Amino acid sequence: MPVLLNIGTLATCRAPGGQGEIHSIPGAALAWGADTVRWVGPENELPSEFHSWETWDAGGRLVVPGLIDCHTHLAFGGWRADEFEQRILGQSYLDLAGAGGGIASTVEKTRRQSEDDLFNRAAGFLDRMTPLGVTTVECKSGYGLSLESELKLLRVYRRLADRGPTRIVSTFLGAHMVPAEYRERRAAYLDLVIGEMLPAVARDKLARCCDVFVEESAFSIEEGRRVLLAGKALGLAPKIHADQLTAGGGAELAAEVGALSADHLECISEVGIRALAASSTVAVSLPLATLYLHHQPLPARRLIEAGIPLAVATDFNPGSAPSFHLPLAMMLACTLQRMTPAEALKGATRYAGRALGLEDRIGSIEPGKSADFAVLDADSVNQWLYHFSPNACVATVARGAAIWNSAGIC
Ligand code: NIG
Ligand code: FE
Repeated sequence: MPVLLNIGTLATCRAPGGQGEIHSIPGAALAWGADTVRWVGPENELPSEFHSWETWDAGGRLVVPGLIDCHTHLAFGGWRADEFEQRILGQSYLDLAGAGGGIASTVEKTRRQSEDDLFNRAAGFLDRMTPLGVTTVECKSGYGLSLESELKLLRVYRRLADRGPTRIVSTFLGAHMVPAEYRERRAAYLDLVIGEMLPAVARDKLARCCDVFVEESAFSIEEGRRVLLAGKALGLAPKIHADQLTAGGGAELAAEVGALSADHLECISEVGIRALAASSTVAVSLPLATLYLHHQPLPARRLIEAGIPLAVATDFNPGSAPSFHLPLAMMLACTLQRMTPAEALKGATRYAGRALGLEDRIGSIEPGKSADFAVLDADSVNQWLYHFSPNACVATVARGAAIWNSAGIC
């Protein structure tokens, strides 16, 4: 049972207060037993019962809760680097999708991959997220879009969860787009999602959440509502890709169905902001997607001023956000969206945990919570995200065990 001593500053990210209140403790100590935090506070107040415990040395560094990437599309076949160049040359995301690229081209490549190949590749991505301080990753299906291929992706996530050490939260995104073979029969595709895919996912307990891409080019509000309510009736918590390319009422739908989160929101309307503010839904900002698609940034200040908790995630996928670097997304939340570093941190920990319905277990450093944290080579949260280095994280601890340790803290 270890105690981490000599912590320069520990940001607990406890819930009280607003987005920027991360409840830091200078000169902290942190004790945990097995996988659970037992005590955190100023080192000079460490209770005597912990004095005989094994000690680890943080070397005066910054300690934050394990980072939570609450929105990724982790398992997919191939890449789309050609589209990256075409967008730079002036094509839009929708132009490329209309020309047979976009999500449809990844669906084709994903369907061709075996479950083992998808598993090995996604495991490799997770293993490169661990050294960044990431301890929990939400993973969406949505590149299968047939019963068998959607289940294949969700089985990959279940195997990744069983493999550890990263905590995995799976989300069913069968309503990502209407696949090519159903283009003229979208009602039949929705029947497949609602009548066959969702019951199979729920029966095998393959996902915790159900997501829908609500957008002119994907699904309407009415279609999204049907899918999300059907998922909810089967015990899957709703999430929405909302108001990404146009203000389509996605945020309002998220509030209406009691979604855990409404994600993207670059084009959210005033009405949408008011609806989210009156709900318990978390807004999730995905600034890498904003940057890669040359979009206007999410109006983070307006959301925060309205009292809406705002998470930050990568949206890692081969199209709009081909990077899994969560600290980079946090830096972009600061520079593009004008969130302070403390606000971005609470967004990638506490509120990200809330966006997954796991706030009682992860997202902050408090007694009773999972012992998930990262040790960063910085003397403050401001310094960490300001002096953006390839990786400031020297140690990652998940469920009480060091899963990355590059500076010999233990
Ligand atoms: O979150 N917006 C919809 N889905 C993804 C992009 C998927 C893709 O381009 O492959 C997103 O941005
Ligand atoms: Fe996404």
